[in-house]
Amino acid sequence: MKVLLVGGGGREHALGWKIAQSPLLTKLFVAPGNPGIKPLGERLALGAEDVDAIVSAARARAVDLVVVGPEAPLALGLADRLRAHGVPCFGPSQAAARLESSKAFMKETATRAGAPTAAFGRFKDVAAAQAFLAGMSAPYVVKADGLAAGKGVVIAETFAEADSAVRDLLGGRFGEAGAEIVIEEFMAGEEASYFVLTDGETILPLAAAQDHKRAFDGDKGPNTGGMGAYSPAPVFSTEVEEETLARIIRPVLAEMRRGGTPFQGVLFAGLMIGESGPRLVEFNARFGDPECQVLMRRLEGDLLPALHAAATGRLHEVTLQWSRNAAAVIVLAADGYPGAYRKGGEIKGVARADALPGVVVFQAGTEEKDGRLFASGGRVLSVSAVGATLPEAVRRAYAGVDAIEWRDGFCRRDIGWRAMKTFI
Ligand code: AMP
Ligand code: GLY
Repeated sequence: MKVLLVGGGGREHALGWKIAQSPLLTKLFVAPGNPGIKPLGERLALGAEDVDAIVSAARARAVDLVVVGPEAPLALGLADRLRAHGVPCFGPSQAAARLESSKAFMKETATRAGAPTAAFGRFKDVAAAQAFLAGMSAPYVVKADGLAAGKGVVIAETFAEADSAVRDLLGGRFGEAGAEIVIEEFMAGEEASYFVLTDGETILPLAAAQDHKRAFDGDKGPNTGGMGAYSPAPVFSTEVEEETLARIIRPVLAEMRRGGTPFQGVLFAGLMIGESGPRLVEFNARFGDPECQVLMRRLEGDLLPALHAAATGRLHEVTLQWSRNAAAVIVLAADGYPGAYRKGGEIKGVARADALPGVVVFQAGTEEKDGRLFASGGRVLSVSAVGATLPEAVRRAYAGVDAIEWRDGFCRRDIGWRAMKTFI
């Protein structure tokens, strides 16, 4: 099977690493990939959001499957364009990707499906939003409707802060993405990310993970794309999983079918697990990054036939095996991330880290020049490890981090702290 993987981050390196282990794979192309993916496949110098060029490349190379990593090309309709040309694509249509690209659509679909989620209102008008806010109590949750690279969510402690977020978002800070906003009830609890594959009908549960969104130790500092993750998530018990499937995943996917926009690909549910069980925070139409890295480290079965079956409506034929091992991943980010960050520092020791027990380094914001590796992005490397227990996986991952020489970055030193409480 010839596969084209779209994207170039740590998530795509992990997907490529797993796909490359499949005996069914004959050739892997990656657009654009990163230096870490180079030994696994052929890089194409195409942007992940260059839909026309990706469609042309998939056809010219007669690929059997396109696997889309990030959300932006899905929201641009890449999967629809590929399917229109008869190219199987793992990833939802533009209409189904609205579960991620429009928070108002997501909330309305979840509500119609009866899924437990925060009460909400949607607004285009400042006065109406302020009136709704006045009826809520702190903390306030204000979100831009559209994709805002994880920056469109404000959790405000005071009314004044919430009011200024409303004006800021509706005032055009995120352009079209903020033309409409959603105001939600605040949900208390512990967050977990849960992933299922679906072909629109059949659902194949994957696993849960927890990530660390804040930049610094102790869950302090600004929100990021994710600074580390681990799987399994102790908070996500079998009972919580069953309830999530029964009350959230199945009804929402059924609602998507009823609405004529069946969802196909991987559905990532962000959940808040509180006293009343799991409630839906958000959906994403793709794997999480860095959650994907830990899922790929724990998956024992062959991912490729599962992705192909999801893309072609045959997911009922597939099962996947999972390791009982735990996996952890630590993100190394450039100083300054998630704000303006430094680029260009040299990175050494990746091979040394890779050689440690249980460790695999996935690259994200890196570039290669004359055989040397340099930082070129915000999140630069993800150091993953597996172990018999979570503390072992975390210890091994930090041994990997310590084997890497790179002066211009930082990582959190407390990845897994919530779950480790179980072990102390
Ligand atoms: P989102 O992009 O919708 O996932 O929001 C980003 C983060 O904000 C989530 O991961 C939660 O930590 C937090 N968050 C979003 N909505 C809520 C809510 N209704 N209640 C509590 N926390 C929330
Ligand atoms: N790590 C969270 C995300 O991928 O959205």
